[in-house]
Amino acid sequence: MKRVAVLGATGSIGKQALEIVDAHPELELVAAASGAQPIDGLAPLTQVGGDLAELLERAEPDIVLNAVVGFAGLGPTLWALEHGVTLALANKESLVAAGELALGARERGGGLLLPVDSEHSAALQCLEGRRLETVQSLVLTASGGPFRGRAREELSDVTPAEALAHPTWNMGPKITIDSATLANKGLELIEAHFLFGLEYERVEVVVQPTSVVHALVRFRDGAALAHLGYPDMRVPISYALTYPERAATPVAPLDLAGGLVLEFEPPDLETFPLLALARRAGEQGGTYPCAYNAANEVAVTAFVEGRLPFLGMPALVEETLAAVDGTPARDREELIEADAAARRLAEREVGALSRS
Ligand SMILES: NC(=O)c1ccc[n+]([C@@H]2O[C@H](COP(=O)([O-])OP(=O)(O)OC[C@H]3O[C@@H](n4cnc5c(N)ncnc54)[C@H](OP(=O)(O)O)[C@@H]3O)[C@@H](O)[C@H]2O)c1
Repeated sequence: MKRVAVLGATGSIGKQALEIVDAHPELELVAAASGAQPIDGLAPLTQVGGDLAELLERAEPDIVLNAVVGFAGLGPTLWALEHGVTLALANKESLVAAGELALGARERGGGLLLPVDSEHSAALQCLEGRRLETVQSLVLTASGGPFRGRAREELSDVTPAEALAHPTWNMGPKITIDSATLANKGLELIEAHFLFGLEYERVEVVVQPTSVVHALVRFRDGAALAHLGYPDMRVPISYALTYPERAATPVAPLDLAGGLVLEFEPPDLETFPLLALARRAGEQGGTYPCAYNAANEVAVTAFVEGRLPFLGMPALVEETLAAVDGTPARDREELIEADAAARRLAEREVGALSRS
């Protein structure tokens, strides 16, 4: 039996995770949490908002599925890593923001960190058991989002409703907007750097519009391994929850004979600057990735609330990154302060950008 805690249980990932737990008698749901929606009776222990570390202390899980959205997922990520409890991580924002602090906690705790992000789950499966020096690069794939192929000028008046219409994945609102701006791929680039210990120049991004190829790994001998499947988050969620068993899922096998066409193209870094900004923030290190994430969260909220135009989002993140000092955080308190400082700067910038 594996005792499972599902955090973010009312969300897109959380609900799919609950279905998977239900379908497997060897998985026992011991705790569930949401941010605001009521979840009474969903699990033996439930919590709405508040300090999730307390819930986890009481629940004593073997595995924590962190599917909280945003920096609010920091506490449970650090808790699981520090306690050596397996962390199934959907909440990429916490790893991006915490970076080295999270890796330090993982080293002390000695537990497993299993990505739930489909690209990173795919990458893990291609990389597992390989020596890093044999890897030339990891290639993360992106769908390109709903505005792929458009020029920058054509994006000045897109609405939140248009940005929320993702072509291939059905996901929560924040990550859907991030996919439309390519900030999601930016976060994933930083996430991959920390998960797999690869320098940024060894992480590439390529657009594959149907989201059938989730990641590729190029090796030094010219071979490349790829992970393919229909875009369905039940596969990586199930992989993490049942690791290393790889349990069956109801997802259909790829229809190859039906004529599977795979097309790739480079990402448009000029139209979608948030990808290049993430790479730069990652390379700068320190708390720059934390500031990138914080400013992006502020930008997404302001865009969804109609306080910022679509093109204001990258501008806001760029201005915020130029204003922060990026000093590395020595502990969780300093990290939380770096996040808060970036948010304050970003909020001020929302006002400035919406007036201009
Ligand atoms: N959706 C996907 O397909 C997908 C794919 C890859 C990675 N991810 C990542 O997975 C995470 C979740 O994404 P999602 O699409 O599932 O988001 P979502 O549908 O918006 O769900 C977010 C969940 O987080 C909960 N939450 C928010 N603030 C919280 C807090 N302070 N404490 C506890 N719970 C809180 C929400 O509870 P309430 O309902 O009460 O607000 C909800 O259950 C994100 O980091 C995202 O980047 C998602």
